[in-house]
Amino acid sequence: MKARMVRPCSPLPLPLPNRLLVALVALVALVALVAFVAACGGEAASGHPADVASNQPPIASVWRSRCGACHVRVEPGTRTREHLEDALGRHRKRVRLREEQWKDLVGFLATRPAAAQ
Ligand code: HEC
Repeated sequence: MKARMVRPCSPLPLPLPNRLLVALVALVALVALVAFVAACGGEAASGHPADVASNQPPIASVWRSRCGACHVRVEPGTRTREHLEDALGRHRKRVRLREEQWKDLVGFLATRPAAAQ
């Protein structure tokens, strides 16, 4: 006698995988939400909308780490290029950067960030 163990038309196996799938989707959504809230929270805490790390040039990290030590960081797009060149000319004694970094910094700060345009 042959025992038929496999019943391909049984409706029973379906509900469990479905429930697992729903749980998985809910979990992924929750993780995404937590990550999103954490990212926004970090940004709000630092108080700089320009701190959106993506689509920023490498000089942005120099600016972030070096330019807030003595005064409130001068935000991109808030000073003219002439003003920046003038002020950063006086900064050569205050901050040690390479010449091309100064150039990048003036370019970065003289340009309004894309998000604010
Ligand atoms: C060692 C302290 C110090 C650091 C670090 C520093 N600054 Fe300054 N900054 C000053 C002082 C002091 C003044 C005011 C005197 C002047 O304008 O030169 C000033 C003024 C300025 C001004 C002109 C005033 C204004 O608000 O427009 C700009 C622009 C500026 N800083 C940008 C920067 C940038 C960009 C960096 C990062 C590379 C930086 N600073 C890092 C000390 C510092």
